Amino acid sequence: MIAIAPSLLSADFGRLDEEIAAVHEAGADWIHLDVMDGHFVPNLTFGAPIVKRLKKRPGLVYDAHLMVTDPDALIEDFAAAGTDRLTVHAEAPRHLHRTIQLVRQHGMRPGVSLNPATPLAAVEYILEDVELVLIMSVNPGFGGQAYIPAATRKIGALRQMIRERGLDVTIQVDGGISPQTIGEAAGAGASVFVAGTAVFGQQDYREAIVTLRRLAEQAAP
Ligand code: DX5
Ligand code: ZN
Repeated sequence: MIAIAPSLLSADFGRLDEEIAAVHEAGADWIHLDVMDGHFVPNLTFGAPIVKRLKKRPGLVYDAHLMVTDPDALIEDFAAAGTDRLTVHAEAPRHLHRTIQLVRQHGMRPGVSLNPATPLAAVEYILEDVELVLIMSVNPGFGGQAYIPAATRKIGALRQMIRERGLDVTIQVDGGISPQTIGEAAGAGASVFVAGTAVFGQQDYREAIVTLRRLAEQAAP
């Protein structure tokens, strides 16, 4: 399953419903919601009240990426706002296992994210409890950054870990994904691709999404 998840961070914040409709009609599978608190990352975006106001589109997966210091405090509101998947950073909560349980208890599909320098070992004892691992291929906080090549090695090692354990965990990659980088990320084992600039920064959303999907499918192991 290859999924293209345009990141709202690169969209026109004054026309969110129109932008989401445009990428969904252009073939996007997920919409990636970059939630930033100005503390865990040096940027501030939006919270559950904005997500709640979004006109929900049947068939589109609402994928929240919480780049916040205290995700526990936001889980209930994001669930009420209609979030399908909610990913927290392994580096954030004091009790990650409890946080992941809280995401499930609120009816959302849990994911855990690793910053570029965080070793894979950080998910060693949580892998069975999540449905997704989000490998950051940039330092979180901004769109338009360059892909960090070490992420490819981490994706490959994660794929190996998942296979050895006989688990069914989705690998999502986020940051600097473009026609030039999606192939190596897909070849290493990622199947969900966040793309901010590579979609919302382009004139033709459909052409951008079709190209990214084709390159990912060609490179998938
Ligand atoms: C960065 C965010 C990413 C970012 C991706 O903190 O988590 O989702 O929006 O943007 P691009 O695809 O432009 O690197
Ligand atoms: Zn993100």
